[in-house]
Amino acid sequence: MNKINRIVFLGFCFFSIQVSGQSKIAIYLNDKKPVKERIEDALSRMTLEEKVAMCHAQSKFSSAGVPRLGIPEVWMSDGPHGIRAEVFWDEWNNAGWTNDSCIAYPALTCLAATWNTDMAALYGKSIGEEARYRNKNVLLGPGVNIYRTPLNGRNFEYMGEDPFLSSTMVVPYIQEVQKNGVAACVKHFALNNQEVDRDHINVNVSDRALYEIYLPAFKAAVQKGGAWAIMGSYNQYKGEHCCHNQYLLNDILKRDWKFDGVVISDWGGVHDTRQAITNGLDMEFGSWTNGLSWGRSNAYDNYYLAAPFLKLLKSGDVSEELLNDKVRRILLLIFRTTMNKERPFGSFGTEEHALAGRKIAQEGIVLLQNKGNLLPLNTSTIKKIAVIGENATKMMTIGGGSSSLKVKYEVSPLDGIKKRFGSSAEIIYAPGYTSEKNNKENLLQKAVETAKKADVVLVFGGLNKKENQDSEGADRKGLSLSYGQDELINAISKVNKNVAVIILSGNAVAMPWVNKVSSIVEGWYCGTEAGNAIASVLAGDVNPSGKLPFTFPVRLEDSAAHALGDYPGNGKDETYNEGIFVGYRWVDKQNIKPLFSFGHGLSYTTFKYGKVSADKKQLAADEDITFTLSIKNTGSRAGEETVQLYISDKKSSLPRPVKELKGFKKIQLNANEEKNVSFTISKEALSFYDDIKHSWIAEPGAFEALIGASSTDIRSKLSFELR
Ligand code: BGC
Repeated sequence: MNKINRIVFLGFCFFSIQVSGQSKIAIYLNDKKPVKERIEDALSRMTLEEKVAMCHAQSKFSSAGVPRLGIPEVWMSDGPHGIRAEVFWDEWNNAGWTNDSCIAYPALTCLAATWNTDMAALYGKSIGEEARYRNKNVLLGPGVNIYRTPLNGRNFEYMGEDPFLSSTMVVPYIQEVQKNGVAACVKHFALNNQEVDRDHINVNVSDRALYEIYLPAFKAAVQKGGAWAIMGSYNQYKGEHCCHNQYLLNDILKRDWKFDGVVISDWGGVHDTRQAITNGLDMEFGSWTNGLSWGRSNAYDNYYLAAPFLKLLKSGDVSEELLNDKVRRILLLIFRTTMNKERPFGSFGTEEHALAGRKIAQEGIVLLQNKGNLLPLNTSTIKKIAVIGENATKMMTIGGGSSSLKVKYEVSPLDGIKKRFGSSAEIIYAPGYTSEKNNKENLLQKAVETAKKADVVLVFGGLNKKENQDSEGADRKGLSLSYGQDELINAISKVNKNVAVIILSGNAVAMPWVNKVSSIVEGWYCGTEAGNAIASVLAGDVNPSGKLPFTFPVRLEDSAAHALGDYPGNGKDETYNEGIFVGYRWVDKQNIKPLFSFGHGLSYTTFKYGKVSADKKQLAADEDITFTLSIKNTGSRAGEETVQLYISDKKSSLPRPVKELKGFKKIQLNANEEKNVSFTISKEALSFYDDIKHSWIAEPGAFEALIGASSTDIRSKLSFELR
C-alpha cells in the first residue's frame, strides 16, 4: 500500500465502526458535521441500556459514557469557589491524591461585591482552567439563589439579594468557564433560599416574586451566559421536588427559556422515577447508595433513573422518546466539552490563578465604616499592631459543606499582616475567642491586655465554616456573632480607641458595637490569597472599592422573612409572604434604617457626583433612554467607585418597590480626575411581571432615575416618562 492509500485506509477505519454487524460511517465522531446530525448518529448506535446508563451516576461525581463507541464519561466537580479534591468512587472522603490541591477563589458574595463584570470574567476564566486541567467537564457552580434571609447557611455561595446584580455578574463567569470546554452548572434551581428543611420544604411564592426576584439570575445564566447545565434544588415548589418539577424544568426552563443543556439533580434530590422521567430531569446524582450491598450487581442500578427506568421502558410503559431527549442533551454536553477537540488544556494551582483570586478579593473587600480615617494604617506612626481573633488564623477554605476545598495554600490574615507590616511594626496576636470549647474568660482577658499595649487593634471576627455558621445543611441560629465576640469587641474598645473590626463572613451580622469602634471592614472568605488581599487593603496599597451585595439589617426582624414570621416555615410549607419585597426593597418599603445598606462601600478617597441628565424627557416603548452624569475623584488618591442606577415607578397598577437597581458601572479615577458615566436602559428596566397576564409589562407614565453611591445614598435624580 502506498502512503496515500494508507492514509485513506486509516481514515476509513477511524470513521467506520461496526454496529450490529454492519459498517456505518461514524458521523458522530466528525466534528465538521452539524451537531444535530452527530447526536442523532450517536443515538442510533446506542442500546437502551447504554442510553439509560448515561442518565444517572456511576460514582459520586461521574456518569457512564459508552466505551464501545468511544463516548467518554462525564466528570463533575464542586464548585463554585475552587475544584474540589478527588473523593473515593463511592464515598465522600478525600481519595488522598497528592496532585489535587487547588487555588481557592473568593466566595461568590465577595465576587458580587466587586460589582465588576471583568472580575466575574477573570474568576470564570481561572476556575474554568483549573477544572479543565483536572479533566472535569462539569463545574458545579456558580450559585445564584437570592439572599432572602441572613440566616441562610449557604449565602456565601451566592451573589446577594438583588436579581439585577446577580444576573449581571453570573454571565461572564459562565462564559469564561465554558471557553475551557467545561460546562458551568448553575445552581440551585430554584427557591433554595434556606438550608433548614431544604430536602422537602415546599415553597409558596407568588408568580410575581418568582419572576422578578428568584428567576432572573437563572434566566440570564441560560439566555445570556449560555449555560450548558443547571442543577435542580432540593426543595419543593407547587408540591413537586425541584429536581423533577414540571413548572420549573419543563415549562419555564426548557420550553420558555429554550434551555438546550442538561438538568442535573442535586445530590440525593431525586425522589420519584416517573416524575424524574417526565418532569425535565436529565441526570440523577447522589441518590443514596452504600456502594456495596444495596442494589443488585451495582448499587447505582437502584437509582430512580437506572433499573426502574429501564423496566418502564422495556415494558413500553414510558416512551423511548423521553429517554432520547435526555441522552441528546447529555451527548450535546459531551460534544461541547470532552469531545471538543479545540478546547484548551487548562492549568492548575498556578501563581497566575492565585493572583487572579487576590485581585478579585481586593476589589470585593468592603470598607463599611472608617471613623477618623483610622484606615489605611499609617506605617510611619504605627509601631505596634495587635491582631485579635480566631478568624485571624483560621482556615476558611475548609468546611462549609460541598464547597470545602483542599488548597495548595491559604494565607491567613495574621500571616498577611505580618508580611505586609512586619518590617515597620511589631505584630502581637491573641485569639480573644474560640469556636472550640476552651477557657473563654482567660482568652478575653489576654486579648484585652494585648490590645492595651498596641497603637492599633485589628479584630478578626465574624463567622466561619462550621455548622450553624456559614455552612451547608443548616442555617445560622441568629444574626449575632457567636463565641462571645460582641463582649470581646466591647471590652477591647474600652482599652484602645483605634480599633478596626474585620468581619469574615458570607452573611450580614449584628454589630451592637458599631459606634464603639473606628473602622469596620467586610473581608468575606477570600480563598488562597485572603491574608495578602486583606493586608493590602488595610495598608492602602489597594484602595477599597467593594460594595455590599446585600443589606446588613440592625436586627433580624428588619429583614422581611423574619418581620413577617415566615422563616423557616412549618416544616412542610413556607410562604414567602413578603413577595417581591426582599432585601432593600423591604427596607425601602418599611422605611427601615439598615445598619449598612445594599450597595454601600467606602473608599480612601471621595467622589463627587454631578447632576444626572438624560437624552430625552420621554421615551416610546421601542426606544432607549440614556442617563449621563459626571463623577469626580475629589480626594488625594486614585480610587474606584461603583455608580448605581435605580429606577422608581411613580404610579403603577400593581405595588412596586420604591426603587430597583437597573444599572451599575465601576469607574476608575485618579485624584482630581473627572469622567462621565452613562447608562442606557429600555422599557425592560421599567417593567414588572404581571401575574394575571403572565407577562412583563411596562406601564406608560412617570418614572424617576436615581443615581446613588448606595441604595440609601442617592446623589441625583431625574424624572422621565414612558409614553
Ligand atoms: C450540594 C450541591 C453540590 C452537591 C455535590 C449537594 O449537597 O447542594 O451544591 O454541588 O452536593 O457535592
